[in-house]
Amino acid sequence: MSKIIDGKAVSAYLRQEIKNEVEKLILDHNVQPGLAVILVGTDPASTVYVRNKHKACEATGIRSVSIELPATVSEDEVLLKIDELNRDDTIHGILVQLPLPKHIDEKKVINAISPAKDVDAFHPENVGRIMTGDYKFLPCTPAGIISLLDYYKVEIEGKSCVIIGRSNIVGKPMAHLLLERNGTVTVAHSRTKDLKATASQADILVVAIGKPELINSEYVKEGAVVIDVGINRKSDGRLVGDVDFESVKDKVSLITPVPGGVGPMTITTLLRNTLMSAKTSLNKA
Ligand code: GUN
Repeated sequence: MSKIIDGKAVSAYLRQEIKNEVEKLILDHNVQPGLAVILVGTDPASTVYVRNKHKACEATGIRSVSIELPATVSEDEVLLKIDELNRDDTIHGILVQLPLPKHIDEKKVINAISPAKDVDAFHPENVGRIMTGDYKFLPCTPAGIISLLDYYKVEIEGKSCVIIGRSNIVGKPMAHLLLERNGTVTVAHSRTKDLKATASQADILVVAIGKPELINSEYVKEGAVVIDVGINRKSDGRLVGDVDFESVKDKVSLITPVPGGVGPMTITTLLRNTLMSAKTSLNKA
């Protein structure tokens, strides 16, 4: 078996399942899942991410609504738009692409999204639910990583899981999901004293620190499973992860490439969350 975890192939498989379920929902209940994506400004990376989200919706039959606001938009206008989407019964998921311009309070914006439509699982209510294991939505990247580990039958229970990075989007929720699967979890970060010693204990190493190719073979235990969440563009235009793929590939048992590893799975979870929200809305109608 190849050592390379093929996130594109796993995503294609899961997206076909989602597409089938969307078709059934439309046929049986005349409900098409709808996702609204708010993009403020024209940050090139965010623009590409949002475009990929719309394309993925289109391919699975989910209606996607694009709300593009200028970088100068006021916080109140963004909040007003969210309020409108919260009350729109044809919209089942609302996503505000981050980061937002400095004059807009990200927390205020996230708090304004109805927890029932918060397909990113960023709202404090949903974050709390993840901590207690009583969740509706799971955050897209960590849940996508769990799906990949499951697909490749990587056992988590009892394993040493080290996460490098403590962001609200990846590191922290990843720790909870691995704990829920009975992993022994360590969260390391930029201030960790001996990162090499910590990382090299991992059976499963998840790297989300945003430093291009930082993790070389010295950080990796023989036979480890390495999940690289990083997406960094080098000056020559090449996309690389936070892991030095060439340096570690002979030492690991499984590894995600960049691109084509975790990235597609993040969007796949977003599609699943939107579908699930549309299904849940049936019970409320
Ligand atoms: N910016 C980078 N990653 C994400 C994400 O998963 N969701 C949103 N809304 N913004 C992001």
